[in-house]
Amino acid sequence: MKICCIGAGYVGGPTMAMIAKQCPDIPVHVVDLNQARIDAWNSEELPIYEPGLHEVVKEARGRNLTFSTQVDAAIEDSDMVFISVNTPTKTYGIGAGRAANLEFVEKCARQIARSSSGHKIVVEKSTLPVRTAQAVKRILSSEAKDLTFDVLSNPEFLAEGTAIDDLLDPDRVLIGGESQRAIDALSEIYARWIPRERILTTNLWSSELSKLTANAFLAQRVSSINAISALCEATGADVDEVARAIGTDSRIGPKFLKSSIGFGGSCFQKDILNLVYLCEHFGLPEVAAYWEQVVTMNDHQKQRFSERIVKTMFNTVSDKKIGVWGFAFKKDTNDTRESAAIYICRDLLRERARLTIYDPRVSEKQIRSDLTYACTDANGQISASDQEMIANNVTIARDGYEATSEAHAIAVLTEWNEFKELDFERVYQSMLRPAFLFDGRNLLDHDRLESIGFEVHAIGKSSQRRRAED
Ligand SMILES: NC(=O)c1ccc[n+]([C@@H]2O[C@H](COP(=O)([O-])OP(=O)(O)OC[C@H]3O[C@@H](n4cnc5c(N)ncnc54)[C@H](O)[C@@H]3O)[C@@H](O)[C@H]2O)c1
Repeated sequence: MKICCIGAGYVGGPTMAMIAKQCPDIPVHVVDLNQARIDAWNSEELPIYEPGLHEVVKEARGRNLTFSTQVDAAIEDSDMVFISVNTPTKTYGIGAGRAANLEFVEKCARQIARSSSGHKIVVEKSTLPVRTAQAVKRILSSEAKDLTFDVLSNPEFLAEGTAIDDLLDPDRVLIGGESQRAIDALSEIYARWIPRERILTTNLWSSELSKLTANAFLAQRVSSINAISALCEATGADVDEVARAIGTDSRIGPKFLKSSIGFGGSCFQKDILNLVYLCEHFGLPEVAAYWEQVVTMNDHQKQRFSERIVKTMFNTVSDKKIGVWGFAFKKDTNDTRESAAIYICRDLLRERARLTIYDPRVSEKQIRSDLTYACTDANGQISASDQEMIANNVTIARDGYEATSEAHAIAVLTEWNEFKELDFERVYQSMLRPAFLFDGRNLLDHDRLESIGFEVHAIGKSSQRRRAED
């Protein structure tokens, strides 16, 4: 058995590194069109930050794990080909803003057809709309002459930030397919380290739909608790207390009940919108509207947070320095795709704030590029004033202290552990008064911060009411 994976991203890289680690006798070749990304996978500076990933890559790289741009050769040489390319939301034409852009998946299928002979097992690892496997099969059978194949759906459930633990000890592995032989071949690989009872098999369409459904349910929990956070701020209830109280109900459970500035990442929004598009396509407008509301609530939560900052700071942040802690969409990753921080920073910049941003893992180039993208309209244009604002009013700091020195306020936008360890007396002494702190992750010890002198505003906590009552 030889494996190849097309797409060396946040999924392809870690997943294949784990398979190579657990199956030293199976050659695993990860390929990508992006030379810079492949060079990084072959270096000491991996393109992805993920706790524990470096060790796994180091163990297998050069033994049975290879990274290259030799896509055709890798496909030709493999028995099993994983497709792990990006499937972003379409930005043009039919289904723009909702449907998944399947251009990259289709290109992979055509490339597999061109570069293959004999028998191949083609595995959909990317998250795909239901019935994509049908399209993959049609392309493979119409383009390939000397090829027989099986198509499997094997969606990935890892979460960034905990990818290695998730891959080592997953709740389940899902394999959808029609050919028992192909299902068995893939199951055998996972069974090297995952108990058999956790390897679930379904038909192709259930497997494709289960991935979209899992992400929709997870995102729905975040939007549900965030909706309640708005009510907590208005009433004096505390969202963390409500979450604890409902989470102890075993029917609800405690996970994914942390209120915040909203979910981010490359998957939740795009997968829900994809689900919405599918529902509309299949003539189910009420079902589509139901799921779309999860995204609407998420957008509202981000907007509510930046508006609260402006309102609290005497209705203006113009020319005020706001120190921003965190830009990644969550802790322990360098991924900023759909990070709530991007939109909150953009909105504050448009209120003419001066932002000094610090994130332990995100580069200055990435931050500026994300803010530029967020200010770009549907025609790909960015106004001169937005461009100027990003150039002049955004500074990147080297640590949390530099970000907040001489600042009017702090905005905590990512829950990095290192922010909890800062010397808050020192931070407070370096700031202007009143020293506002907006905790968008409910990460810090608010009572302690208030005893130092900070004016703390947190998600789902009515600080003003509490202050008025004191
Ligand atoms: N990121 C996550 O946490 C996560 C989790 C589960 C599932 N997924 C799904 O996995 C898929 C991949 O996500 P990702 O985050 O790894 O994306 P990514 O953008 O990090 O990586 C995709 C890679 O595919 C490469 N690529 C695109 N077309 C190619 C082609 N024709 N030939 C060779 N390489 C090509 C790109 O250059 C890129 O490096 C998506 O469908 C996503 O929804 C992602």
